Amino acid sequence: MTKILALVASRRKYGNSHVLALEAMAGAKSAGSDVELLNISDLQIDFCEGCLRCVFTGKCSGKDDMGLLLAKILEADGLIVSAPVYLLSPASVIKKLLDRALVIALYADELSERLRGALTISVAGKEDWSPLGPEILNQFALAYGFTVYNYLEAFAPGPGEILLQDEVVTQANTLGHGLVEYVLGKAQPRTPDPGQCPVCYSRSFRFLGGRNVQCPICLIKGELEESGIIRITSDLKKDSFWEPGHRKRHLEEWIKVTRVTYLKNRALIKDKQKKYLPENNIY
Ligand SMILES: Cc1cc2nc3c(=O)[nH]c(=O)nc-3n(C[C@H](O)[C@H](O)[C@H](O)COP(=O)(O)O)c2cc1C
Repeated sequence: MTKILALVASRRKYGNSHVLALEAMAGAKSAGSDVELLNISDLQIDFCEGCLRCVFTGKCSGKDDMGLLLAKILEADGLIVSAPVYLLSPASVIKKLLDRALVIALYADELSERLRGALTISVAGKEDWSPLGPEILNQFALAYGFTVYNYLEAFAPGPGEILLQDEVVTQANTLGHGLVEYVLGKAQPRTPDPGQCPVCYSRSFRFLGGRNVQCPICLIKGELEESGIIRITSDLKKDSFWEPGHRKRHLEEWIKVTRVTYLKNRALIKDKQKKYLPENNIY
């Protein structure tokens, strides 16, 4: 039986993110899947210490709920992640957890053998104040080794007010059902709009000079055509930052290599750092 894990990132119980996640879970259950919900804002998730122990030993040095959450994420065939937009992007626990996803590089081979999909649900108060809601949630899903099956962008300012929009509630249910079909290989992912990144559905691009643009969420490149359409020039299977092969190369050819250089210079760096100790009073 397929397993769908739903992560909610709002402190508002039965608020908009919560009820839409529950509705998507009901849809997933109706498609025959096992479902589980966790509110990630109730978990103890610490800041990344930047020690990189996770990518060298497979274990984080922290003593929080990350181990439990990671085990559930690795086991899941599908992910539903639902979060409110705060100050133009998803609530901060999403970024806190994104910072902790480097370890997924160690599981790249294993995860690439399974079709794992994500449905992301972004809830904002107002349409033009959510430029990065779905984008960052999709990045979260990709960072944890899922492809993006679809996303739902909803708008409701007050707690639970989304329940006044029946069509959105129904859509959450339908997409939850579709997510299970997708991981079973029976449904296709969402078709990106012409101005959207085909990997992460980002609607934001960075200008690199001339007509060259780059998606800031997954780093694939393209060219902006006269018509306003972005023609992707990257190899989608190879060049996305989140593609399993790239995750492995990032680990082997960058993190491990920069570690060797750092260790060579460590004594010198430590010596130079002494200048900044409080007793030297430089400011
Ligand atoms: C601290 C805070 C910041 C917010 N910032 C934004 C924002 O930048 N853009 C927006 O459209 N809505 C914003 N909102 C509105 C929420 O996104 C909206 O109320 C959403 O429905 C909350 O979902 P929830 O009920 O699942 O918590 C903000 C709300 C709060 C409490």
